[in-house]
Amino acid sequence: MPKYVKIEKKVKPFNKEILISGDKSISIRCVLLASQAIGKSKIYNLLESEDVINTLKSVEKLGIKYKKINNYYEINGFGLEGFNNKKNIVIDAGNSGTLARLILGLLVNFKKRAKIIGDRSLSKRDFSRVTEPLKLFGVNISTNQQNLPVKINGTEFLRPINYYEKLGSAQCKSAVMFAALKTPGITKIKAKKSRSHTELLLKFLKIPIKMKSLQNHDYFEIEGVNNFNGFEYKVPGDISSSAFFIVMTLLSKKSKVVMKDVNVNESRTGIIKILNKMKAGIILRNKKNYNGEMIADIVVKSKKNFVSTNCQKKMNSSAIDEFLVIFLVAAKAKGISSFKDLSELNKKESPRLDIAVKFLKMIGIKVERNKNDIKIYGNPNLNLQGNYVVRNFRKDHRVFMMSCIAALTFGGKWRIYDQDSTKTSFPNFFKTIKRLGAKIN
Ligand code: S3P
Repeated sequence: MPKYVKIEKKVKPFNKEILISGDKSISIRCVLLASQAIGKSKIYNLLESEDVINTLKSVEKLGIKYKKINNYYEINGFGLEGFNNKKNIVIDAGNSGTLARLILGLLVNFKKRAKIIGDRSLSKRDFSRVTEPLKLFGVNISTNQQNLPVKINGTEFLRPINYYEKLGSAQCKSAVMFAALKTPGITKIKAKKSRSHTELLLKFLKIPIKMKSLQNHDYFEIEGVNNFNGFEYKVPGDISSSAFFIVMTLLSKKSKVVMKDVNVNESRTGIIKILNKMKAGIILRNKKNYNGEMIADIVVKSKKNFVSTNCQKKMNSSAIDEFLVIFLVAAKAKGISSFKDLSELNKKESPRLDIAVKFLKMIGIKVERNKNDIKIYGNPNLNLQGNYVVRNFRKDHRVFMMSCIAALTFGGKWRIYDQDSTKTSFPNFFKTIKRLGAKIN
């Protein structure tokens, strides 16, 4: 199998209902929390992507058994001290920042030494953002010049902390929340707003957590517990995966897509708010509460005209994984769109801000960049005819999938490398996009 895909035709009009696989952030959290519960947990609709499989394998290495039965995963936990403490271990988090950072929060009471490693992309990412607050709990933890490997040696003498999370990183917030769960006393967290799945799951599990939400920050108080019981949970669809089809539909001709039961938690719907301000007309139907998370059907129709946007900084966290495809709509909008303070975008699986600027320029879109701010000069008549090659993007799954959407909607002849990257977050990507009629070889 060649390492690249070829796309040489725009997608034809389609009108379909599609199923989006389980949310990656929630899947990883469910496995990690189930590994800490007493007894059996059953997780339905767990995303079967590499990041989540690596999470299952990591807890397995720590002595937790799991198996797939019919349409759910059964995970057998032994409580908050239930990891097998008999030997030093190495955990390979693969490509997953969420796994690598969140599991550190669970290892704060691990009696032996654990070492976290990862693939080339993960090894370039910053871990001091999570090791610094975890140190305050009294844990012995170190990075290799802020990068992997991270070495951790937990303690039974944990002390609660006061922590101010300033980056808007749900991964940092969540690692601290997991550590707080194991720490006697009350941990206090002030956090710049970020995705709220961890706190919602803790509430669902009846862990004593107090939450207060102000305009830009959330406040939490978490009281350590002795134990909690196994649980059942059905993971909603992933809005970050649906984002590719939202944008493909908007930018195609005479098409419509309905995506059922997708997670539309406030802290994740930046893409919908930003695009609807650009006149995308995306509709959320059958909105309902599911164990604290909001789910809905997302209905999208093709649109001819988009207006530019001046995207507010406060939207950044809730759209952080979707900016690559949002930029494609900005490239087609009338006027100049501006996005500010996107430093965190450059700290993902690849430096996505750098890559997006290069990509947009490659397809003939004028982009102005000032540090972490960009201006995209939209071209409503954008229609490509040339040859385009996309490679060397650290196998970043979202760069690969965004490039496919550009190829299928803007035209031109494309060769896009590293197709295996889709397995990280969305193994059904090809199956789903082909169901919508895309020709990808
Ligand atoms: C995630 C949080 C985000 C996001 C990542 C998943 C999570 O990262 O980009 O894909 O599951 O908590 P940060 O929390 O570092 O911003």
